[in-house]
Amino acid sequence: MRFTVNGVPHEVDVEDDMPLLWVLRDELGITGPKYGCGISQCGACTVHLDGTAVRSCQVPASELEGAQITTIEGLGTNGALHAVQAAWIAHQVAQCGYCQAGQIMQAADLLAAVPEPTDEDIDAFMGGNLCRCGTYPRIRAAIHDAATRLREG
Ligand code: FES
Ligand code: FES
Repeated sequence: MRFTVNGVPHEVDVEDDMPLLWVLRDELGITGPKYGCGISQCGACTVHLDGTAVRSCQVPASELEGAQITTIEGLGTNGALHAVQAAWIAHQVAQCGYCQAGQIMQAADLLAAVPEPTDEDIDAFMGGNLCRCGTYPRIRAAIHDAATRLREG
């Protein structure tokens, strides 16, 4: 399969049913996306596939031909943090950090679709991204902050 990850072209020769998460981590050494459950229940593996947040543990390699994938490593541009990343730092969201790459990728997708989300919008869109450390209040605050940063440029 030929596809790009964070703008870099890659070609891999793997089984059709290898999940994207394994392709990224084991074949390409891109370890930002994390394995949490492997059954679409936690969101730790979230990346963007052609601009939309997906659970990479559920995307088979057979669907990757020509795809454009973005991981947490490629969310910022030209060496600058994405507004969501900057807000995450400002609010010191992470505790253990394991879920956070997935949280940030999910939040970036939310803000691309809903520039000024309400608490209800955030809870609905982020509710499937689990955090065992319970950072949810800081996630919500950081998303509001990131929304402001994006609107104000
Ligand atoms: S590892 Fe993919 S949703 Fe949990
Ligand atoms: S910060 Fe520890 S699981 Fe979310």
